Amino acid sequence: MNEPNNPNSPAPSTRRDFLKKTSTAVAGGALLGSLSVERGAHAAGSDTLRIALIGCGGRGSGAANQALNAGGNGVKLIAMADAFQDQLDQSLNNLKREHPDLVAVSDDHKFVGFDAYKQAIALADLVILATPPGFRPIHFEEAVNQGKHVFMEKPVATDAPGVRRVLAAAEEAKKKNLKVGVGLQRRHQPNYLDTVKRLQEGAIGDIVAMRVYWNGTTPWVKPRAELEKKYGRKLTEMEYQMRNWYYFVWICGDHIVEQHIHNLDVANWVKNGYPVRAWGMGGVETRKGPDYGEIFDHHAVEFEYADGSRVFSQCRHQNGCWDSVSEHAIGTKGNCDVSGFKVVGENAWRRRSTDGESNDGWQLEHYPLQEAIRNNIAYNEAEYGAKSTMTAIFGRMATYSGKEITWDEAINSNLSVMPKHFAFDAEPPTKPRPDGWYDHAVPGKTVVI
Ligand SMILES: NC(=O)c1ccc[n+]([C@@H]2O[C@H](COP(=O)([O-])OP(=O)(O)OC[C@H]3O[C@@H](n4cnc5c(N)ncnc54)[C@H](O)[C@@H]3O)[C@@H](O)[C@H]2O)c1
Repeated sequence: MNEPNNPNSPAPSTRRDFLKKTSTAVAGGALLGSLSVERGAHAAGSDTLRIALIGCGGRGSGAANQALNAGGNGVKLIAMADAFQDQLDQSLNNLKREHPDLVAVSDDHKFVGFDAYKQAIALADLVILATPPGFRPIHFEEAVNQGKHVFMEKPVATDAPGVRRVLAAAEEAKKKNLKVGVGLQRRHQPNYLDTVKRLQEGAIGDIVAMRVYWNGTTPWVKPRAELEKKYGRKLTEMEYQMRNWYYFVWICGDHIVEQHIHNLDVANWVKNGYPVRAWGMGGVETRKGPDYGEIFDHHAVEFEYADGSRVFSQCRHQNGCWDSVSEHAIGTKGNCDVSGFKVVGENAWRRRSTDGESNDGWQLEHYPLQEAIRNNIAYNEAEYGAKSTMTAIFGRMATYSGKEITWDEAINSNLSVMPKHFAFDAEPPTKPRPDGWYDHAVPGKTVVI
């Protein structure tokens, strides 16, 4: 049915024009021919691993491309699902160009809308979950219920109930012998792997503190007026938030969750644990206006770990300021620039790449997952993916509330940020004020548990 407010109703000329104009960029497309997945029968008993992509945006297209690179002739992309037809069409065109022989998505294997994921999952052996993170617990749970292997992007949730749902599904996945990869790609880069190993072997003695930063600029914004001009119609509030998702907590988690999770995950990896207490501060100083939704533009959190050590975390989206995306560790025998792969002190060391080495984590993370599927090797990254997601949500709880919070309080919170139900005319949990602006959390007043 051609409904004016349904984003998936065709608007042929507009969509054709849009497809002609849009770029063909597919994230992280480096082809690595040198590493091959050992072939063998996988769980479905056929030689071809059938892949479905759920969430056909930049990263989903990139991950599908990399999964196809990793599998060579042993994999095929056979189904795609997206909330929006235009997103799916663009991704499919790009992927077909990249892998004409490995992309075989027939018209009846393309699904759009909020329930599209279920049908695409049903057709696959391995599903790539790459929607914005609010939907991940729902999609992961469904994939596990349907008995499918999963590669899912980080973060894996935007609130504590979502994290618990992912942890429960991860346990179920283990029982069903399903393999699960999570897109925290630093854990697959040789440069990080070597550096973290050294730290865990005591290169700088006991680690008393870490500094982890994602201080940068605004990644992207899709103003309502531009979207409405592009699609030639008024958007419902739900569609607007879905398309400009970065700025809404229920779907994005705030940038401390969406982006800074990478650095917080490195801290958890180095510490081999998760924080027990957190306090911090944050707010909106420079990124103001109706297009920027409800998230903060800066957060600073101090996390305490069980051994009393601290992780000092900062993330900022402010233009014209000091930038740093990095992790450092301070120990009793020296210091380590973790993201610079360098130790200073008693055991001074600087990592040198070997000839031909790749540190393209986006590509490398697909090889062990596919190898595990083909050779039936235990493989499940969901627990640390969920707990590092929780670490970032924990930080957001500290900055939004302004209170000191414990891990147990945070992870056991029943406060859901998600909508009650999903439809383009349904109410999202956050609505604009009459002036079009959105309210932000107010430290000291906002309740997060
Ligand atoms: N590992 C990394 O370095 C990295 C880098 C970028 C993004 N990401 C993660 O990848 C995920 C996607 O980010 P992106 O940059 O590709 O965003 P994007 O907006 O480009 O793509 C998201 C896609 O999901 C679709 N979508 C939204 N809700 C959906 C639903 N309910 N069902 C089906 N499709 C739905 C959107 O229409 C869109 O096509 C996010 O979790 C993000 O944090 C990871």
